[in-house]
Amino acid sequence: MADFHHETARLILRDWREDDWEEFWAGTNTPAVMRWLGGVCDSEKREAAQDRLLSYKRDHGHTFWALERKQDGAILGFCGLKRCNQEGGPIGMMEAGWRLREDAWGQGYAKEAAIASLDLAFDRFGADEVIALTVEGNAGSWGLMRRLGMQRREDLDFENSDFDPGNPVIIVYSIGRDSWERHRG
Ligand SMILES: CC(C)(COP(=O)(O)OP(=O)(O)OC[C@H]1O[C@@H](n2cnc3c(N)ncnc32)[C@H](O)[C@@H]1OP(=O)(O)O)[C@@H](O)C(=O)NCCC(=O)NCCS
Repeated sequence: MADFHHETARLILRDWREDDWEEFWAGTNTPAVMRWLGGVCDSEKREAAQDRLLSYKRDHGHTFWALERKQDGAILGFCGLKRCNQEGGPIGMMEAGWRLREDAWGQGYAKEAAIASLDLAFDRFGADEVIALTVEGNAGSWGLMRRLGMQRREDLDFENSDFDPGNPVIIVYSIGRDSWERHRG
């Protein structure tokens, strides 16, 4: 399958390379970044996560891509598209997701990458609707969903303790093609 490489003003969304993982985990496997994602991962969980990211690419042609900053080549985290596979959730729906190292927050990188991912979902990967999943406590993530024009979808919420064992409900936002086109202007 062809290598994926997509550029925005400041970022590159691209396929993972073997030498990305160490930098990715060093930046993102921290208590702050993983707070609403079930906590810091041990090596077994890291391996399993890597395998999943590579399998999404093989199975669907897209994944939560490596997010590289053009200016210095740093791996800021990931952003992209997968098919929802969260137990109890709306399995198979196109899902956007993001995870950035803490020193890259608050600079609009996540939004820039998420906009590119939604454009790609509708223009290149044939989605009619894109969902995003988070938990009530993760205001940084649902704040981004709202800034992208996504709508809260309580009808799709589901019980799952992977992200927040203290409040084991995953909440869902979504946006359809028409709304995205209006939001993009
Ligand atoms: C969720 C997450 C990706 C959001 O990142 P973020 O940097 O807050 O999101 P954005 O890219 O939209 O940046 C928005 C902020 O950047 C500011 N900003 C600065 N320069 C900007 C620019 N050029 N363009 C846009 N926004 C800019 C905005 O004003 C805004 O600040 P505010 O939150 O104080 O209002 C990040 O918090 C994260 O990685 N969290 C940990 C992992 C995680 O929980 N992932 C989601 C799991 S569901």
